[in-house]
Amino acid sequence: MTGKRAVAQLLQHLQSVGVSHVPRVTPIARRVASAVKPAASRQAPPTAAQRQSAVARPDEAPQRARLPSAGAGRDQDLAVPAALPEVAALVQQSPSSRAEREQALCALQGIVAACARCEQLASRRTQTVFGVGNPEARIMFLGEAPGREEDEQGEPFVGPAGQLLNRIITATKLRREDLYICNILRCRPPGNRNPLPQEALNCREFLQAQIDVVRPEYIVCWGGVAAHNLLNVQTPVSRMRQQFFQYGSAQVLVTYHPSYLLRNAEAKKLVWEDMQFFMQHLGMQAN
Ligand code: URA
Ligand code: URA
Repeated sequence: MTGKRAVAQLLQHLQSVGVSHVPRVTPIARRVASAVKPAASRQAPPTAAQRQSAVARPDEAPQRARLPSAGAGRDQDLAVPAALPEVAALVQQSPSSRAEREQALCALQGIVAACARCEQLASRRTQTVFGVGNPEARIMFLGEAPGREEDEQGEPFVGPAGQLLNRIITATKLRREDLYICNILRCRPPGNRNPLPQEALNCREFLQAQIDVVRPEYIVCWGGVAAHNLLNVQTPVSRMRQQFFQYGSAQVLVTYHPSYLLRNAEAKKLVWEDMQFFMQHLGMQAN
């Protein structure tokens, strides 16, 4: 293989797992609260051929690459895990009915449960925490990583942060069935430390597959870890609020993490403003 082709393949693979030198973060609407925009239409998923070209050959050895930092604050050597053909196959089927998407997510959950890419996390977890919600939800909620309760119960956002998130959901008048909820990581980091860049990269293929199957119109990033890893930026949450970023066919909104609100009660008001901004954009009236 020529060097040029190898680089092109690597770049394609990095893009397929969401890491890119090419800025793909576009603020598309700054403070558009007064102008309720029509929801973005769902784009057709890429064709099998397009996807095939974007997925690294699974038989290739893991590649080491100098990557732009993904929320870590500095460039690091990260090892891109070989893409799993069974994950690519699920996405390539472009599940469209609710039942098909449910089935694809279920199969993906099984693949994730067997993952041991992050040795430390895999050896300590009670179980993987995949995601819950409507498989064709308009809105995806993206958190950071499971905590103790999530690790025990196998569901995202069931501990104290999750209870606060539930209260926020109730107040916004969003319904649980509008939502699909998952995290950057599917395993609990010890002591709830932040995900390492390598761990986020290891788990990215699964997050991307969940996004590709659910195809949400909106992704709400709860906290800096979710936003920085998803969008590959390091902008503070305070400067990302109340605007939309484009990620694939989804519009991304960033706000503070519920755990942050538990420690900084004064920020609850800011999250409430962000939810009102979002509700207004959706044409819904918050409480
Ligand atoms: N915090 C998160 O970010 N995710 C969870 O699932 C639970 C707590
Ligand atoms: N900084 C973060 O990274 N996340 C928050 O939720 C708040 C501040």
